Amino acid sequence: MVIAVDGPAAAGKGTLARRLAADLGLPYLDTGLLYRATGRRVLDAGADPRDVVAAEAAARALAPSDVTRPDLRGPEADMAASAVAAIPAVRAALLEWQREFGRAHGAVLDGRDIGTVVFPKAPLKLFVTASAEQRAHRRWLELRGRGVTADLQAVLSELRARDAQDAGRAVAPLKPAADALTLDTTELDAEAAFQVARRLVAERLGL
Ligand code: DC
Repeated sequence: MVIAVDGPAAAGKGTLARRLAADLGLPYLDTGLLYRATGRRVLDAGADPRDVVAAEAAARALAPSDVTRPDLRGPEADMAASAVAAIPAVRAALLEWQREFGRAHGAVLDGRDIGTVVFPKAPLKLFVTASAEQRAHRRWLELRGRGVTADLQAVLSELRARDAQDAGRAVAPLKPAADALTLDTTELDAEAAFQVARRLVAERLGL
């Protein structure tokens, strides 16, 4: 049983996927963390996240401790993740690992290409989205909650730049799978989004 949760940055995928997984008793994987950790390793090595050789080496050398680092969030980590994620060799290096994770016991995975590439046969695919303004506002609140002062307009431009890069790349771009169900959370809080998704799980999967 694999549930794919894809969508743009700060649409509420992580919160939703984590909650669905807990409710269904399934493991949860935030696949963005793999790209974030890869980007971080490249930055640590003093290389450019667009450097194909350095990025592939970082993806292949990824260790479990990399994905629990405290410095995987923030503008620099966001853009480094998005840059390494556009490199085919990086995606190839991380693909089998994600598939193994899902195959082992079933899982809820969130990312950009779970329903299109990683698990194209997943029985339920959700594409979680929201207006860019709403997503930027949520990210801004989250940053503030962590004590980071950020400018809302700067957060919005960074989000738009990252979406454009994630949707515009040649390999596994951000886009809904043909059979994905779109869940627009612009007007929904986390609880309401969970209720809608939970109902879809019940209707589609009988769980
Ligand atoms: O979900 P996130 O914001 O933590 O992801 C960080 C970056 O990683 C995102 O800008 C694009 C990339 N990514 C991807 O290309 N494919 C995935 N399955 C997950 C993330």
